[in-house]
Amino acid sequence: MSGSDTGAGDAADPSEHSKTLWHGRFEGAPAAELMEFTESLSFDRRLWRDDIEGSRAHVRGLVRSQLISALEGDSILVALDEVSDEMESDRFVFVASDEDIHTAVERRVTEIAGDAGAKLHTGRSRNDQSATDVRLWLKREMRIIARRVVMLQRVLLDRAVEAGDAYLPGYTHMQRAQPVLLAHHLLAHGWALGRDLDRLRDTIVRVDVSPLGAGALAGSSLPLDPAFTARELGFSDVFENSLDAVGSRDHIAEALFDLTMLAIDLSRLGEEWVLWTTEEFGFARLDDGYATGSSMLPQKKNPDIAELARGKAGRVIGDLAGLLATMKGLPLSYNRDYQEDKEPLFDAVDQVRRGLGAISGMIATATFDLDRMRSAADSESGSATDLAEWLVVRGVPFREAHALVGALVREALDCGSSLRDLVSGDDRLGPDAAQLVAPGVSVRRRITAGGAGPVPVAAQLDRFRAALQRWSAWAEDDGAFDS
Ligand code: ARG
Repeated sequence: MSGSDTGAGDAADPSEHSKTLWHGRFEGAPAAELMEFTESLSFDRRLWRDDIEGSRAHVRGLVRSQLISALEGDSILVALDEVSDEMESDRFVFVASDEDIHTAVERRVTEIAGDAGAKLHTGRSRNDQSATDVRLWLKREMRIIARRVVMLQRVLLDRAVEAGDAYLPGYTHMQRAQPVLLAHHLLAHGWALGRDLDRLRDTIVRVDVSPLGAGALAGSSLPLDPAFTARELGFSDVFENSLDAVGSRDHIAEALFDLTMLAIDLSRLGEEWVLWTTEEFGFARLDDGYATGSSMLPQKKNPDIAELARGKAGRVIGDLAGLLATMKGLPLSYNRDYQEDKEPLFDAVDQVRRGLGAISGMIATATFDLDRMRSAADSESGSATDLAEWLVVRGVPFREAHALVGALVREALDCGSSLRDLVSGDDRLGPDAAQLVAPGVSVRRRITAGGAGPVPVAAQLDRFRAALQRWSAWAEDDGAFDS
């Protein structure tokens, strides 16, 4: 079968056989299909920094417990530095038996450090090792995501401040309802993103637990100190139960939910911008750098970022759903199925990170058409609630006022007459009430806390600014890593 496309029945290159981590127990070489199907190097190689970091801590733990000599420890650490340089500069040569990043790093350390290198895996399993790597990686990536969320919130805040008293229609059921300040609308998304940040912060507490020292599933007969390596790696906590440490992925599911919710928030924002940039709405125009053209239709300017923010939310939902399905039937503790935790996680992190950058740029550079917004919001019927409330203040029960104004709106629509004129001529309303129908009046009357008018929005801007300080202080907290 040699040379066939399927490779069925082929064994991997026998000269590599001795290099599998488990070769002692095996007489035969692993089949090529086994390696092809079960490898994870193609996607877990991006964990190399964390794998090396985890190994450094493990080596220091081995020296501390006198399981290896200080000299041996040093030569492994030097070898790890060399592996790190090779990875960084893309000089690292992977070989056929490197089934995952852990195997690759250990193999190379052993090539460099010889006998000392062969002691690196003492008391450790790839089960606690890969769980450690992903937790280290995720902690860092969640901060990067958080910083990008803060960046988008800043864009929304800046645009809200710049919008001043500009207003647009607010919608319910996608029907014009009441006018709202543009600043109010933009900040609505800002607060939702704040909850996304709160969720990330909460999830990190559960991600920030070291599983290193759990071994394959049951701990070790060797005098290892999991609390020591946890501290070395900057984890806030250490596992309580070795089966749980290698046999759980709920922290990843939780992070994936947070990312999914973020993706959905971006998707909803995107959907709005798809609408706002249509000729029909005309509320916003995209900067050339954040729009695309059509290969056929010369006049087109398309909101692809907004559309893909919407489209990619679907796949991120799939990432979450896929992992949950992977997890649901697994008994304790580690099962190889868990290798499937990485691709959905990496994918969701990548898509959300890029989406945040693209949407931020798109909103920061777009031009609002404030006249279009205003004229859409100044439809006479947008003041209907103000008219009803005007009556309420004068003692008319709200239900009655609602019916009275509703009838006037219907009459205006049926007869094609102006609501303002009808209100002016109405016995119970009259010319004073008709003032409420004038352009720009309604939005200024939204005076309650958290409401859409200039007075509460000014207070909201202050509160958002203060909240953003806190979110940003948290997101920037871990200064060691750059976004
Ligand atoms: N690549 C594997 C993973 O990501 C490493 C663990 C393999 N463990 C094992 N006992 N085969 O899960």
